[in-house]
Amino acid sequence: MRVDVFTLFPGMFSSPFAESIMQRAMTQGLLDLRIHNIRDFTTDKHHVCDDMAYGGGGGMVMKPEPIFTAVESVFGMDQAQPIAAVPVILMSPAGRRFSHQIAIELAEHARIVLICGHYEGVDERVREHLCTDAISIGDYVLTGGELPAMVIVDAVSRQVPGVLPEFAPKVESHADGTLEYPHYTRPPVFRGWAVPDVLLSGNHAVIEKWRKAQSAERTRESGKAS
Ligand SMILES: C[S@@+](CC[C@H](N)C(=O)[O-])C[C@H]1O[C@@H](n2cnc3c(N)ncnc32)[C@H](O)[C@@H]1O
Repeated sequence: MRVDVFTLFPGMFSSPFAESIMQRAMTQGLLDLRIHNIRDFTTDKHHVCDDMAYGGGGGMVMKPEPIFTAVESVFGMDQAQPIAAVPVILMSPAGRRFSHQIAIELAEHARIVLICGHYEGVDERVREHLCTDAISIGDYVLTGGELPAMVIVDAVSRQVPGVLPEFAPKVESHADGTLEYPHYTRPPVFRGWAVPDVLLSGNHAVIEKWRKAQSAERTRESGKAS
């Protein structure tokens, strides 16, 4: 899967994808993550990417021209994939709320584009005329769209076949509308807190029953039961 991210702060993406499963997915060619600096697509001497908001109010707004030029240039260089066929997603607190289902939906595409806002936000014409979608990672405001883009790349990549190790569980929290059961490992007793006896029993049928009950209980307690 290819992901093109457009940002004013490309350096933020280096370390989260230089470790663990994401790093391996990139090395194995399962995740082709390309980070583009929007500032590289400005045409003025000072590489200006933001300006004051029409109508007043504090804060700067990201200008439309460099963002359109950046996305169109990247697609212009790649005749194999017309932009119309690819989801172009703006990171926005006003977007649809990101979820496991949306991660699955996005993983079905061979390529997606993520645009990171900053400052007061992005000129609305980007949302209206360049993007096909806008996604929020939750009802709070972050400084920029970089962390939301990283969250989306991570969650979506996990849905790409081969990214998770062979032995990874096939069903995790949210996959079937429930939360996963609790996990324990050695030692059997830590600071006086013992691992539930059932997990040491070796009886797989009983363990499976316990896990199902725990999963149901957690889901009910969290209020997430569907
Ligand atoms: C400081 S925020 C702008 C917030 C905006 N003034 C508002 O009140 O909705 C700057 C950028 O961070 C990103 N961002 C902030 N919170 C986000 C969230 N919960 N989900 C997705 N993107 C977010 C967006 O790209 C946004 O344009």
